[in-house]
Amino acid sequence: MFSKPTISKKRADRALERQLVYQTEKADRSRDEEDQLVRGTALKSMMFRQRIQPIRPWRDDDRVLEVGSGAHGLVFGFDKGFCIGVDPLAADYRRLFPKVQTLSQTVGAIGEELPFDDAAFDVVISDNVIDHAADPFAIIDELIRVLRPGGLLYFTVNIHHPFYDKASRLYGSLRNIGLPFEVSPFADHTVHLTEESISSVFGELPLDIIQQSSNADGTRASQRASRKLDPDSLLKKMFFKNAIYEVIAYKL
Ligand SMILES: C[S@@+](CC[C@H](N)C(=O)[O-])C[C@H]1O[C@@H](n2cnc3c(N)ncnc32)[C@H](O)[C@@H]1O
Repeated sequence: MFSKPTISKKRADRALERQLVYQTEKADRSRDEEDQLVRGTALKSMMFRQRIQPIRPWRDDDRVLEVGSGAHGLVFGFDKGFCIGVDPLAADYRRLFPKVQTLSQTVGAIGEELPFDDAAFDVVISDNVIDHAADPFAIIDELIRVLRPGGLLYFTVNIHHPFYDKASRLYGSLRNIGLPFEVSPFADHTVHLTEESISSVFGELPLDIIQQSSNADGTRASQRASRKLDPDSLLKKMFFKNAIYEVIAYKL
């Protein structure tokens, strides 16, 4: 059975700090290309809406929330309606990516404590967020709390071979007792989830799951077939990394 890892606040704070460094460097590199980022975000959001449309027609008056909206999450490409993004780095992203960020309202908050009433939204999105946070599973509970019954949840998270779950827990313990260096994937993320662990969590929630899928098989196959011989690629040949688990569900 899956045991939820204990994540220190220090580890979560550090992951957030590293996210800010990464996004600051990205903003510096793309200072003259923000229009391109705006177009890319609009395209990604349009493709997302086209995917969702046959499952649940998108209404102009839908109240939409994206938790962990990031620098250019889906919420910034929905051109009309009541949309809000939430991210602990919202104020930093507004400064770093002003053109994209003005395309939606954003609020600086953590997904574990959303500053909204129960059932306040028709659509709630969390796309590649929870494994950056101090309490990933509290975020899932909050996503469901603020969604109205019958509302739509769209959720993704990266999943990996169980090797990385064990390595991530070991890294957390070693850092707690003074490991003097960082290992990037484990410093950027607070957990490394497996398909079994996240699907077991979703199996227990008050949701009518419409689609639940992962591209783990394809990711595993392509990483095994890679001809690259650097240590990271060789490790991925044995233990696949960074597949995507996706859920589309209605709240019961
Ligand atoms: C990999 S980015 C994904 C951003 C966006 N969803 C996208 O797909 O472009 C992860 C985001 O999660 C945010 N994050 C980290 N901890 C969080 C928390 N406790 N609650 C909500 N968001 C958090 C980070 O600031 C970052 O913007």
